Amino acid sequence: MYTITVIPGDGIGPEVMEATLDILKASDLEFDFHEARAGYACYQETGNTLPHETLEIARNADATLFGAITSVPEQKTPSSILTLRKELGLYANLRPIKSYPGVKSLYGDVDILIIRENSEGLYSGIEEVTSEGATALRVITRKASQRISRVAFEEAKNRGKTRVTAVHKANVLRKSDGVFRNSFWKVAEEYKEKDGYRDIATDELYVDAAAMFLVTDPHRFQVMVTTNLFGDILSDEGAGLVGGLGMAPSANIGDDNGLFEPVHGSAPDIASKGVANPAAMILSACLMLQFLGEHQEAFKLEQALIKVLEEGIVLTPDLGGTSTTMEMAQAVKKYFKKS
Ligand code: NAD
Ligand code: IPM
Ligand code: MN
Repeated sequence: MYTITVIPGDGIGPEVMEATLDILKASDLEFDFHEARAGYACYQETGNTLPHETLEIARNADATLFGAITSVPEQKTPSSILTLRKELGLYANLRPIKSYPGVKSLYGDVDILIIRENSEGLYSGIEEVTSEGATALRVITRKASQRISRVAFEEAKNRGKTRVTAVHKANVLRKSDGVFRNSFWKVAEEYKEKDGYRDIATDELYVDAAAMFLVTDPHRFQVMVTTNLFGDILSDEGAGLVGGLGMAPSANIGDDNGLFEPVHGSAPDIASKGVANPAAMILSACLMLQFLGEHQEAFKLEQALIKVLEEGIVLTPDLGGTSTTMEMAQAVKKYFKKS
């Protein structure tokens, strides 16, 4: 029995969450789902985007599923998802960019893992109003940079990848990204000597060039490791490469906790129409199953989604279909139950 915190959030968050939970409930595994609140609607009702109780439930669970939230523009405290990442110590944000059969995209066979440092950088939360305007502090530490670089080599090995690319802007951010870059190469030196890692090639790119190559030559990338904001931007770009934000899942991982969420937000433009693509949330649930060690179940769930995508009959509008979120999820559930 796994205890799972479920935070549906706002906009399409609850829609893709409901669809995904319905599929998970058809699993052979037993889940105890605990729903908890966070986000804009929660703020409007309680004055708080992340009630203390939500954090405690998430802290004590085996894993957390998170839908999406709408950011509160006037809010003075950070977004609930950022607080969750920080408070749960989720320092690594794994964002796979994968092309799937039947999904119209710029290239086939894209399979990249973007690894986003999730604890610092421009997300330090240290901003200050000045007489001229405002400043934001970009914090880059050796500890976090080395830690995320190690995650990159471990993930490369686990996934049979043979290249890790560090992405930074050390030509301008000489000191801060200088630390990131040097930390990456220090860790790369260590791994060069390690059994099982010697075949992993390493290189580096400035983020502007990396953004260009992601569009023109995505196959040159296998694992990309980068700082917080660059990872945020590159992962939306990567999603665009493989069919859109409805296809991009993510895993926020720490030493003893994991939170799984689509890369997308609350999508106010399509919310409450019931047409959001549930694939990113379903694939995030696959990442959660892998995190829990349930590799067979994760594989089965991904295969069920692949069958539906391949068939191309029950798809949401972003994928060129006319089906609803729930219809697409039911089609996935049917194959999942059969497998
Ligand atoms: P968004 O990701 O919500 O939407 C961008 C575009 O992608 C929209 O056109 C939307 O319709 C489309 N899209 C996203 N997910 C989709 C899906 N599953 N199926 C089909 N189409 C999909 O980004 P935004 O519009 O810039 O932000 C909206 C709100 O979400 C903001 O308040 C933002 O801060 C927040 N946000 C939250 C998270 C999160 O909860 N982790 C992530 C990103 C943005
Ligand atoms: C994401 C989102 C968040 C981020 C926002 C909502 C705070 O864009 O998960 O990619 O910037 O990390
Ligand atoms: Mn983002």
